[in-house]
Amino acid sequence: MSDNAFSKNILCIGAGYVGGPTMAMIAAKCPHYKVTVADINAEKIRAWQTENLPIYEPGLLEVVKKAYGKNLFFTTDIEEGIKRADIIFVSVNTPTKMYGGGAGKTADLQHWERTARDIFRIAESDKIIVEKSTLPVRTAEAMERILSANGKGLNFDVVSNPEFLAEGTAIPDLENPDRVLVGSKETERGRKAREAIVEIYANWISKDRIITCDIWSAELSKLVANAFLAQRISSINSISALCEKTEADIKKVAHAIGMDSRIGPKFLNASVGFGGSCFKKDILNLVYICEYYGLHEVARYWESVVKINEYQEGRFVQKMIHAMFNTIAHKRIALFGFAFKANTGDTRESPAIYVTRKLAEEHARVIITDPKALHNAEYDLKDILQKYVEFEADPYKAAEGAHAIAIMTEWDSYKALDYKKIYERMEKPAFLFDGRNILDHQKIYEIGFNVYPIGKPALTHF
Ligand code: NAD
Ligand code: UDX
Repeated sequence: MSDNAFSKNILCIGAGYVGGPTMAMIAAKCPHYKVTVADINAEKIRAWQTENLPIYEPGLLEVVKKAYGKNLFFTTDIEEGIKRADIIFVSVNTPTKMYGGGAGKTADLQHWERTARDIFRIAESDKIIVEKSTLPVRTAEAMERILSANGKGLNFDVVSNPEFLAEGTAIPDLENPDRVLVGSKETERGRKAREAIVEIYANWISKDRIITCDIWSAELSKLVANAFLAQRISSINSISALCEKTEADIKKVAHAIGMDSRIGPKFLNASVGFGGSCFKKDILNLVYICEYYGLHEVARYWESVVKINEYQEGRFVQKMIHAMFNTIAHKRIALFGFAFKANTGDTRESPAIYVTRKLAEEHARVIITDPKALHNAEYDLKDILQKYVEFEADPYKAAEGAHAIAIMTEWDSYKALDYKKIYERMEKPAFLFDGRNILDHQKIYEIGFNVYPIGKPALTHF
């Protein structure tokens, strides 16, 4: 079908965890729009063109299949995509900068700026540019400055439309979001551009859940949403440490406080720590912005959310070493799960990376199992693979001859394993460290394990 057969021509630059699913959903819901997703990574684009998608996300393949080849296309031809599009979503990665000024804190905007310059160089007509990537507040200003220097007499309207999907639930999050946020300049052109983006989502989301605001509030809201979510986890994790000292039970505390409708029950699962590509990066970015504006107390407040997370990860490893008689050298330790959460193969900032490295430093032998993340785990651990790490797809085999199991990811399949069978094939005394509190600890203890949950007293046989 020619481009003229479609009422909008949308391009997304960046075919990752956000760009791929978001655009697949828009294409599936809006057969009257043409949606093209472009990336510099040819291997990734090839994978999007097959049934073997580059990311694991429940329900994603079905959505892609609905639209692929009809109004959804994947390409490496960014130039052609920019020329044809009316609306360009930019969904490139914005990791923490690891060099120069702001290293370890601020966002690395090199990919972002490169796309701005590509658009500036290639565009032959007016465009609406949509910030989908998470960006420091006031980035749109820099984008507009680059674009307005085009000298071709073209108009570029920059709109902020941050993405709130969580991995593992991306498809329901996109299909039925709590809200969609679209920010723009409060000028006539700005409001018109904003309306064009609202119109896309209004194809399947009711208007009362599509919020519009100024562009700086939209940019900042994304960082703040992630900071608040991560803060809840650090809050409950800090209390889990206190529970372990006082024989209180973190699950009961979380239940009791979560029933207060002002607090609410979600995001109160104590764990080995939060991972994922967003929380730490976005909080550090917020911290950097606060420091930039001289708000040092505010910066320290948010920084403590990351510090508690590091404390929780460290505490988990220390507990393992201490429980196993202060030496784990040459002991086999099976890690159940490597993904940063269940239902994804993503391992970015996964607490399992930290735990594996610390165990390897103590010369333990770590056997890693995960239903979806072994490929990424191999990449994350390539420098210590030969000496300290093994991979095993079958959790029963991973635990064979092990001194301990540590549950790192809350995969449902780990709840249903036959722990009696596992126990029989392990070294004794056998230890189980439940970094996600997903098992029935009393039952596991009665099988014979020494059990160490998060935020509950340990159940030991000695
Ligand atoms: P990702 O690394 O999975 O994907 C980014 C893609 O951009 C990569 O495939 C990369 O090759 C491509 N890219 C980089 N530079 C490019 C260029 N110049 N031209 C074309 N392609 C280019 O990242 P992601 O997880 O999808 O995150 C993207 C953005 O969305 C980030 O800002 C992130 O903070 C934000 N975000 C992520 C999530 C999430 O759950 N992953 C949720 C909300 C928001
Ligand atoms: C997060 C935000 O939820 C999402 O809105 C944003 O767009 C991107 O960042 P994501 O990182 O994909 O999404 O997953 P999320 O469900 O938020 O989990 C993040 C980490 O926190 C995971 O490691 C998870 O296991 C952990 N977590 C979550 C807990 O430890 N306890 C909880 O109660 C909830």
